[in-house]
Amino acid sequence: MGKIQGIIGPTATFRDAMAAINASENQIGIVVDDAGSINRTVSDGDIRRALLNGAQLDDPVANLPSKTPITFPEGTPDETLYASMQENGIQAVILTDSANRPVGLKGRRSFEPGILLSPPHMGQEETQFVQKAFDENWIAPAGPNLNAFEAKLAEVSGRSNAMALSSGTAALHLALRVMNIRAGDRVYVSDLTFVASLNPILYEDAVPVLIDSEPGSWNMSPLALQTRLEKDSAAGTLPAAIIVVHLYGQSADMNSIMELASQYGVQIIEDAAESLGASYDGKPSGAHGVLSAYSFNGNKIITTSGGGALVSDRPDLIERVRKLSTQGRDPGDHYQHSEIAYNYRMSNILAGIGLGQLDLLPARVTARRRVFERYKDALCDIPGISFQGETLLGEGSRWLTVVQFDPNKIDLHPYQFLRRLQAERIDCRPAWKPMHLQPLCHHFEFEPHSENQVVSAGLFLTSLCLPSGSAMSDAEQDRVISGITNIAQNR
Ligand SMILES: Cc1ncc(COP(=O)(O)O)c(C=O)c1O
Repeated sequence: MGKIQGIIGPTATFRDAMAAINASENQIGIVVDDAGSINRTVSDGDIRRALLNGAQLDDPVANLPSKTPITFPEGTPDETLYASMQENGIQAVILTDSANRPVGLKGRRSFEPGILLSPPHMGQEETQFVQKAFDENWIAPAGPNLNAFEAKLAEVSGRSNAMALSSGTAALHLALRVMNIRAGDRVYVSDLTFVASLNPILYEDAVPVLIDSEPGSWNMSPLALQTRLEKDSAAGTLPAAIIVVHLYGQSADMNSIMELASQYGVQIIEDAAESLGASYDGKPSGAHGVLSAYSFNGNKIITTSGGGALVSDRPDLIERVRKLSTQGRDPGDHYQHSEIAYNYRMSNILAGIGLGQLDLLPARVTARRRVFERYKDALCDIPGISFQGETLLGEGSRWLTVVQFDPNKIDLHPYQFLRRLQAERIDCRPAWKPMHLQPLCHHFEFEPHSENQVVSAGLFLTSLCLPSGSAMSDAEQDRVISGITNIAQNR
C-alpha cells in the first residue's frame, strides 16, 4: 500500500488540511493525535461547510464537529472494505493497526475497473465479414462488403444512395465540394458542435457563420437562424449552405429549419455524425437534407473503427462523391485529372465491420436510450440536475447522455463532478466547447439565440457527458449514478 498520503497532526489548520487533501490520491485528510492514532478524517466538504459557517483558513481542524472515522483493522477482506465504501458513499477506507494508527488506505480505484465514455461495442458477425474479405482476397480497394454496406446504410437512413468514406470529416468535406461551395462563400453551421463540423468549411476557404443553439434540444436555434437569414438576405450575403448538426444523437428541429432554408433558397447538409439510429418526424435522422454525413468513428453508436459516409436521394451528387473520393480520375483508359480530389474511400475490410455493426443498430439505440432513462430516473429529483431534451418530433438515439447542473441550485462547478468521477475511474467529459468561443473562430460571425440570450456558452459551462456505452452493465450505470448523487449531496 506504500506511504499513506494526507496525514495531518491535531494542531493542523484548515489550510494544512486542504494541502493534505490535495496531495492525497483519495482526496481525504487523516487527522492523528500525538501518539499517531487516528482521530478523524477531513474532506473537502467538511472544510467547505466550516468556511461557509464563518471559520477561517488558519483555524485548527480540531474545531470541526466530531466525526467517527470509518476504519478497519488491517487484513480485513477486500469485499468488506468495498461494501463499506458503497454503503457509506465514501472514496476510501483507512486500515489501522492494534493501536488504531493508520497503516493503509484503500480507495475505490483499486477495486473498480474504469468505465469508458463510449467504447466500441462489437457483435458476433463483424469478424465473419472481415474473414470473408480475407478469404476472397477482397482486401482493397472496393469489394462486396463495401457494396453491401452502402446498400444497407441507404436503407437504414431512408435514402436512395450511400457512399462509404474514410471519416465523417471527409464526408462533410465532400458534401461541400459536390455542392460547389467555393472560397469566400458563407456557410452557416451549428455553433455547439465538435470542430469537425466546421473544419471542412475552412478547408475550402469558405466562411463559417455560427448559429447558436435553442434551449430545449440544444441544437440549431430556428430563431437565431431566422434572424441571421433576414439580416443576410437584406445585405445580399445569404449563405451557400447550412450545416445542421444533430447533437449527441438528438435531431434538430428540422421542419422549422427546412422551412426557413427553403424560404431563402438555401440548401441543407446534415451533420448526422452523432445521430445514426435517431429519427425525426417519422424518418431516420439524416433523411432530410440534400446530403447527410455519418461517422463510424470508434466512439460512435456503431463503428468501423474509423469511417464515415454520405447519403442522399440525389444519385448525381453521390456519383460526384465517388469520383472526388477516389482522386477524381476523368473517364477514359489513361490517368487524366481535371480537378483537385482526395483519397477518401472506405476500404472493403472496414466495410465488413460496418456490415456486422449495422445489423445491431436498433439494439444499440435501445441500449443507449435505456442508459439515458436510468440516469434520468435516478438523478432528476436532485434539485438543479436536468438533461438534454428532444425536439417535438424527434426520437434521439441518446448517443451520449449529457447532464446539466444549474449553478443557481448546485453550488459545485461541473468540473468538481468531473474530477471526482474521474478519480473513481468514471470517464466523463465536458460538453463541446461552442465554436464561437474557439480561438480558431474568433473572427467569424455568431448569431445568438436571441438578442439577450446565448445558449451554447451556458450549456458548455454547465454540462457534462456521462458514460453512455451500449455495453454498460446496470452495475456500471449504478456506479455513475451513485457517484453523482454522492457528490451532489456533499458526501
Ligand atoms: C458532430 C460531428 N461531426 C463530425 C464528426 C467527424 O467524424 P469523424 O471522426 O468520423 O471524422 C464528429 C465525430 O467525430 C462529430 O461528432
